[in-house]
Amino acid sequence: MASFSATLFLILSVFLDSIVPIICPSVIEDLNNLKPPPDFNATITNNCINNPSLRYCNATPFDLEEIFKSTIVASHLCNISHNPNCVESFPKINLHKKPHLAPLYLSFTFFWKYCPLTITYIDISNNSLKGNFPTDIFYCSQIRDLDLSHNNFVGDVPVKNLSSLPNLTSLNLSYNHFSESGNLDAELFKRFNSTSFIHSGIFPDHSKFSFKVFLILVVLPIFVLVMVFCLCVLCSSRLDILTGCFRRRYEFTPSMLKAATKGFSKKKLVGKTSSVDVYYGILRDGTEVRIEVYNESLSKEDARRIFAEGCKILSQLRHKNLVRVLGWCDTRRLRATVSEWKDGENVETWLRNANPSWKRRMKVMVGILQGVRYLNEEWPQVECDLKTKSILLNDDGEPLISRFKVDDGNNNTKRIFKFGLFILEMVSNMRPMEEVESSEAGFVQWFRLHYPQNFEKLIDERMKMKETVVDQAKEAIELGLLCTDLSRVREQPSWDQISYVLSKSSSMALAGSDHRRYYQVDGRRKAKFLQTDESDDEIQMDPHSSVDHRRFLVV
Ligand SMILES: *[C@@H]1O[C@H](CO)[C@@H](O)[C@H](O)[C@H]1NC(C)=O
Ligand SMILES: *[C@@H]1O[C@H](CO)[C@@H](O)[C@H](O)[C@H]1NC(C)=O
Ligand SMILES: *[C@@H]1O[C@H](CO)[C@@H](O)[C@H](O)[C@H]1NC(C)=O
Ligand SMILES: *[C@@H]1O[C@H](CO)[C@@H](O)[C@H](O)[C@H]1NC(C)=O
Ligand SMILES: *[C@@H]1O[C@H](CO)[C@@H](O)[C@H](O)[C@H]1NC(C)=O
Ligand SMILES: *[C@@H]1O[C@H](CO)[C@@H](O)[C@H](O)[C@H]1NC(C)=O
Ligand SMILES: *[C@@H]1O[C@H](CO)[C@@H](O)[C@H](O)[C@H]1NC(C)=O
Repeated sequence: MASFSATLFLILSVFLDSIVPIICPSVIEDLNNLKPPPDFNATITNNCINNPSLRYCNATPFDLEEIFKSTIVASHLCNISHNPNCVESFPKINLHKKPHLAPLYLSFTFFWKYCPLTITYIDISNNSLKGNFPTDIFYCSQIRDLDLSHNNFVGDVPVKNLSSLPNLTSLNLSYNHFSESGNLDAELFKRFNSTSFIHSGIFPDHSKFSFKVFLILVVLPIFVLVMVFCLCVLCSSRLDILTGCFRRRYEFTPSMLKAATKGFSKKKLVGKTSSVDVYYGILRDGTEVRIEVYNESLSKEDARRIFAEGCKILSQLRHKNLVRVLGWCDTRRLRATVSEWKDGENVETWLRNANPSWKRRMKVMVGILQGVRYLNEEWPQVECDLKTKSILLNDDGEPLISRFKVDDGNNNTKRIFKFGLFILEMVSNMRPMEEVESSEAGFVQWFRLHYPQNFEKLIDERMKMKETVVDQAKEAIELGLLCTDLSRVREQPSWDQISYVLSKSSSMALAGSDHRRYYQVDGRRKAKFLQTDESDDEIQMDPHSSVDHRRFLVV
């Protein structure tokens, strides 16, 4: 008996040392030190006679030591559970939220084996207990309430033992990690509703399922929305990335232009009139562009359509003497055209500042003529601006017509008139004042007044005037005057004739010939053009000019 007690104590000490080292040692001390009183055998025998249902009554012969120890544990447990009248009335084992004591008391199997019949309520909840279901509790087969919630129990729930507790009316296994059990005893489940098994692990977790549903119904759409939102944010900053792939070839979106001009920043604004803001921009592919943004928005669908159709035509123009229109943007918010960026100065400032030689002026005139003829032949509906101010020069001295518009008028007379004005500007470095109304007519009138008597006044005085140059300049003035004579529109030279005259000047220079020739235009007016041997001119011939020599070569 002594050795058994020593062994038990040893076991308990080890248990306590390792797991719960600093708990009230009194129950252990009592278990170790207290001995059954001498009449203990008599007492319990007597008890069994009075109440044979007492659990130790079945265990004959009595294990007096164990029965006595269970009474020690019972008295302690009753006391810490704050039961009234321990241990005679011991209704509740309350180990709720006693994570240090609970494992100790659960380990006293001898106590549970002789579980006092008065106990109806066992609460071991909220102790973070590990391990399997504490099956010793089932010795207390009379219990009505059992609460094991908020622990970390694992493994199978002993369904049969639970079912065999006839008076159990309240069970709580919630918040544990029991193994899933699809076929939890139907009867048990009838007795206890789902609130007994919340997050117990026993049933396929509703919350897990609803979590999936939550994921699919809420999180996924939110995720998609967030992605779309992010995409939109990305796109609004650089929509050109996206729309670049989808856009029609010549159509630019506001965001593409916004990206190209850093949000239409003031730094990129290179010009401004009352109706147009001109920006310098860089497209995503690195192309430098000139973006003209029109201040006046077109509200009517018709007007927008006409604008877009016009831009579409301009985008198709291809000529070395035309600035290329790359496309346009027409939305309600933004109306703009996009053309290639040309660094070069315009011909007006070039004439003023560079004082170009006659040869170089000829090259510009021939280039412009080629551009105009291209438009005339291929795109008669396109009007262009031939003021020296609107014509740019690229690095090779090649002129570029930079301003166009689509005009169904197709007024050839007006076009020839404008080209005549251009020639006069080129020769004289003078130009009609834009501000003054009908100044063009006045400008032409002024030429007429001085030609041919005072023609020196009409030629840019800064040019080095070899005789041949003077002659060619005179011819050019004469051509200009023919083109601008609106009083005799029928006698306006044709484009072929203009081409012939201009190209003759340069080609004769190249040929170095010294022949004199006379040309008759329309049989009435006579214009004399001198050939020169100023052979350093290298003016490209117009591949478009199919000159009909027979019509005006008289000799
Ligand atoms: C206890 O008492 C009973 C008779 O009442 C006797 O048979 C039994 O041997 C006793 N046991 C011990 C351990 O003394
Ligand atoms: C019961 O608890 C009280 C204080 O709560 C203590 O004074 C008393 O000694 C305890 N009795 C036993 C048997 O542990
Ligand atoms: C269990 O204990 C934790 C703290 O240890 C507490 O936050 C929680 O409210 C308790 N739960 C119950 C049901 O008493
Ligand atoms: C629990 O039930 C099993 C049979 O399923 C039985 O062998 C065991 O003794 C029961 N445990 C208790 C403490 O009643
Ligand atoms: C269940 O409770 C009834 C009435 O309180 C009692 O008679 C019966 O013995 C109890 N059953 C068990 C197994 O303790
Ligand atoms: C579930 O059972 C408890 C008692 O065990 C009761 O208080 C509660 O109202 C029941 N809930 C439902 C939804 O039946
Ligand atoms: C079981 O415990 C949980 C958590 O403390 C509680 O929400 C639930 O209502 C309890 N169930 C019953 C049947 O008492």
